[in-house]
Amino acid sequence: MTASASGSTPHMATYDRIGRGYRHVRRPDPRLADLIHQALAGARTVVNVGAGAGSYEPADREVTAVDPSQVMLDQHPGSRKVRAGAESLPFADGAFGAAMAVMTVHHWPDLRRGLAELRRVAHRQVVFTWDPQHLPELWLIEEYLPEIRQLEHARFTPLSAVVEALGAHTVLPFPIPHDFTDGFQIAHWRRPQSYLDPVVRAASSTFAQLPASVVEPAIARLREDLASGAWHRRHADLLTRDSVDYGYRLLVAGPAQGPTGAGVDVRARSAGG
Ligand SMILES: C[S@@+](CC[C@H](N)C(=O)[O-])C[C@H]1O[C@@H](n2cnc3c(N)ncnc32)[C@H](O)[C@@H]1O
Repeated sequence: MTASASGSTPHMATYDRIGRGYRHVRRPDPRLADLIHQALAGARTVVNVGAGAGSYEPADREVTAVDPSQVMLDQHPGSRKVRAGAESLPFADGAFGAAMAVMTVHHWPDLRRGLAELRRVAHRQVVFTWDPQHLPELWLIEEYLPEIRQLEHARFTPLSAVVEALGAHTVLPFPIPHDFTDGFQIAHWRRPQSYLDPVVRAASSTFAQLPASVVEPAIARLREDLASGAWHRRHADLLTRDSVDYGYRLLVAGPAQGPTGAGVDVRARSAGG
């Protein structure tokens, strides 16, 4: 059952258009899941904002999923689902132990308002996002589709501004493993042939926003470079790496709620990253 916030239709539901089949390609990665669950600390109730199909939700807590897209909520297996945007959460102050938001803040029309809502409705906030100012970039952008850079920089806010608006006390880098299972765009950095697959591309909102007249010639060039061995010659170094830091970060704000209401905290492996 899905509840809709105050009877109004959320203003933005791009994923109603591009979200079909999402669950098949976006399989949660267990290493990222561990990091997120550790950051949620002892919270017994969790609100997952921009929940999509429910990736990374802890199975052992009471989770309420919030998303403006009905197509995404329909793919969500949970029983507590609310159709709403982050900017106006239909919950009381402090209603949840923790709020989580994974790869979603770049979709919010009003990032600051959405983050303020996370702070209002939950004691702790856990946000996973990407820093557009981070280098290196994925080779796909540098060598084949620079158009992605423009799109991504238009929708992702520099990390320092997100950290500030959230009041984050912890910033954890998450280098992307070469066998990362969640099919967002960066996942295939060491599996270049994956980008040839239209199903893989369709799971990325960036690809979905670029016209075929831009994507298809670039992918044709990648196909040629893979067939000729040119890509492998250029990226021999990458093929030896197990993970690369491409600027993905887990931000944590607010106090931990351990089993006794105190104590447990995720350790900052790096702040500011
Ligand atoms: C890339 S998906 C991420 C879904 C899920 N968190 C995950 O990790 O698989 C982005 C989600 O953000 C949602 N979204 C878009 N605008 C939003 C808003 N204003 N407030 C909350 N969620 C929003 C989309 O509908 C979509 O489900």
